[in-house]
Amino acid sequence: MNRTGEELKKVFIKTYGCQMNVYDSERMTDALAPAGYVPTETAESADLILLNTCHIREKAAEKVYSELGRIAEMRTASGREILVGVTGCVAQAEGEEIAHRAKGRVDLVVGPQSYHRLPELLAEVRPGRAIVETEFAVEEKFAALARVHAKHQQRVAAFLTVQEGCDKFCTFCVVPYTRGAEVSRPVDAIVAEATRLAAEGVREITLLGQNVNAWHGDNDWGLGRLLFRLAEIPGVDRLRYTTSHPRDMGDDLIAAHRDLDVLMPYLHLPVQSGSDRVLAAMNRRHTRADYLRLVEKIRAARSDIALAGDFIVGFPGETDADFADTLSIVDEAAYMGAFTFKYSPRPGTPAATADDQIPEAVKGARLYELQAKIDARAAAFMQAQVGAHIDVLFERRGREAGQIVGRSPWLMPVHVDAPAGMIGTIQRVTVARAGTNSLFGTLADAPVKPALENVL
Ligand code: 5AD
Ligand code: SF4
Repeated sequence: MNRTGEELKKVFIKTYGCQMNVYDSERMTDALAPAGYVPTETAESADLILLNTCHIREKAAEKVYSELGRIAEMRTASGREILVGVTGCVAQAEGEEIAHRAKGRVDLVVGPQSYHRLPELLAEVRPGRAIVETEFAVEEKFAALARVHAKHQQRVAAFLTVQEGCDKFCTFCVVPYTRGAEVSRPVDAIVAEATRLAAEGVREITLLGQNVNAWHGDNDWGLGRLLFRLAEIPGVDRLRYTTSHPRDMGDDLIAAHRDLDVLMPYLHLPVQSGSDRVLAAMNRRHTRADYLRLVEKIRAARSDIALAGDFIVGFPGETDADFADTLSIVDEAAYMGAFTFKYSPRPGTPAATADDQIPEAVKGARLYELQAKIDARAAAFMQAQVGAHIDVLFERRGREAGQIVGRSPWLMPVHVDAPAGMIGTIQRVTVARAGTNSLFGTLADAPVKPALENVL
């Protein structure tokens, strides 16, 4: 259907948190397109504002309420009719509570399983009464989102959700409550979406799931087998997946790292803590030694793999000795980077009511020390690339004229002076210099030299 400029409405989606949310925001944009919505870059210019929220960070819900307050003021000042919705994990966790507490400031509260229904839910909105939709019907969502998938921008790298939810019940985490039980998307649907993405020009696909390596298909298919299948699709030059749990790192997946060139040598495999006592209290269901053995096995399969992780400091009962174990596992497992978090109690999770909570000041000091250690490793990893020839998939123009930006196999942005026509292609680059978060190089014509051995 063709729409005139006047009929088009604008949606602004503010995305918080993980890559799953970035992906979901894209899907919401797609789902809203048939209802006449086009994306806009500012809340001020929007007819519909969606806050796609994350429940992981501290005081997540409180921040949503204050954001809703700010938007309400903006809405009153503008005198325009603007619809406001809350989506994502806070929507799922708080549901009716948001409609109640933010009465008059929110029109729509929608959980992650219902994004494909956004147009019909919007049509039901009436002044003064928020629509709340937080039902679970995952299969239906996967199917519907695949149908509405629209080509709203040219992308070289894209996410593809293959799995949602989690059954692990780590004692600090809300995901099993907000995203529900683990559900895997069927192979055929994944292959169809990957094929469509490749046909649209996507060269790199990152498979997404809260517990992506728990993905399983019919006839005992595991994620490794799925990666082999996706690698057969013409145009799929690179594959990645995130985020993984150590307990689900199956042999088929490790074999894929050994045998599949298009599977990038980067692994986000959170350990959370290096202390056996804390790991047990977190219900991670593996020990420090199990984790280190696993990393060794993965490196035996793919020696240049870059390991990234997540860590929580100040989990209830964490002693100085426990924290020292976390510091030492950073070196022993040889991380190239990690996200670090201060433990923050999540209502409804077992650890939130533990009586040996750690004082904020201690958490802060531990976070600082751990982050400094990880930053130093990340910097060394970047420096070790200087002089190396690496393959870069160019994704977009850079900020400087004549510059394009892509990613290394290890996920670092690489800036190169090269023609924009190379966007969407993989080129060999000689790294000249390393910044804090990016590499800078020139187009090369030389064989790839592994860059990681000096660090690992
Ligand atoms: N407190 C601090 N960090 C948390 N994470 C999850 N829940 C909490 C919490 N209650 C961190 C974990 C997880 C990452 C996505 O967020 O490290 O891997
Ligand atoms: Fe949360 Fe990850 Fe643990 Fe699942 S495995 S409960 S998502 S931290």
